[in-house]
Amino acid sequence: MRLEHKTAIVTGGARGIGRAIAEGFAREGARVCIADIDEDVARATARETGGGAFAAHLDVTRMDSINRMIGEVETKAGGVDILVNNAAIFDMAPIEEITEKSYDRIFTVNVKGLLFTLQAAAKSMIKRGKGGKIINMASQAGRRGEALVAVYCASKAAVISLTQSSGLGLIKHRINVNGIAPGVVDTPMWDEVDALFAKYEGRPPGEKKRLVGEGVPFGRMGKPEDHVGCAIFLASAESDYVVAQTFNVDGGQWMS
Ligand SMILES: NC(=O)c1ccc[n+]([C@@H]2O[C@H](COP(=O)([O-])OP(=O)(O)OC[C@H]3O[C@@H](n4cnc5c(N)ncnc54)[C@H](O)[C@@H]3O)[C@@H](O)[C@H]2O)c1
Repeated sequence: MRLEHKTAIVTGGARGIGRAIAEGFAREGARVCIADIDEDVARATARETGGGAFAAHLDVTRMDSINRMIGEVETKAGGVDILVNNAAIFDMAPIEEITEKSYDRIFTVNVKGLLFTLQAAAKSMIKRGKGGKIINMASQAGRRGEALVAVYCASKAAVISLTQSSGLGLIKHRINVNGIAPGVVDTPMWDEVDALFAKYEGRPPGEKKRLVGEGVPFGRMGKPEDHVGCAIFLASAESDYVVAQTFNVDGGQWMS
C-alpha cells in the first residue's frame, strides 16, 4: 500500500472526482478527511470510504472554516500529509451576459478558496517538518478559453499558475505541489454544465454531454475513477521529484 500511515484531506470529497480519489487513497492505506460544504453527504461518503475516514465541514471561501478544518485534522490524525484541493463550482454565460456575482462566486471558490486552503495546509505541513503532497484540480478549461465559459476557464488557468508558483515556493520544505487537469468527466457537475449548454445553445437536455463524450479521443467521457491513479502517484513517494506540474488526465483531449 502506497499511502500507509498518511493522512489526506480531499476538499469537495463528498461526491464526484473527489469522492473517487478519497476512496482510492483509503484503499492505499491513507486515513482520509472528506472536507466538504455538504456535510451530510460528506458524512455518508466517509462512512462508505472506510479506513478511518472522517468528514469535516469546509467552506473554502471562509478562512475561519479552512483553519477549523485543518485544526480538526491535526487533532484527530496528528497532522496533514496530503491535500487534494478539489472543491470547485461551475457557471457559464456569453461574454455580454457575465455577471459580477457569477465572477465573484467562481473566483472566490475556485481560486481564492484553493489558494488559502493550500496555504493553511502548507503551514501545517511546515510546522510538522515532514514535507507533504498537494494536488490541485485544474481542468482542460484552464488550457484554453471557451466562448461561453470565460470565467470558469480563467479560474482554472489561475489554478495551473498557482500550482506552478506554489510548487516552486514550497519544494524547499519538501512539499510537492502538482495538479491534475481532467477533461470532461461524468459527475454531478457535468449535469449542471449540460443544463447550461442546453439553455445557451438551444439543445435538448443530454445532447451536449453525448457529443462531448463522442469527441474524446479515448472514445468516452471520463469517469471519476479515471483520475485516481494519477492522484495516488502524486500523493506518494514515487512523485518526490515531480514539482509544479499539471498532468492532463483527459483521454487525449489536450496535449501539453
Ligand atoms: N466534471 C468535469 O467534467 C470536470 C472537468 C475538469 C475539471 N473538473 C474539476 O474537478 C473537480 C471536481 O469536479 P466534480 O465534477 O467532481 O465536481 P462536483 O460538483 O461533482 O463536486 C464538487 C464538490 O465540491 C463541493 N464544494 C462546492 N463548493 C464548495 C465550497 N465552497 N467548500 C467546500 N466544498 C465545496 C461540493 O459540495 C461537491 O461535493 C473540480 O475542481 C472541477 O472543477 C471537473
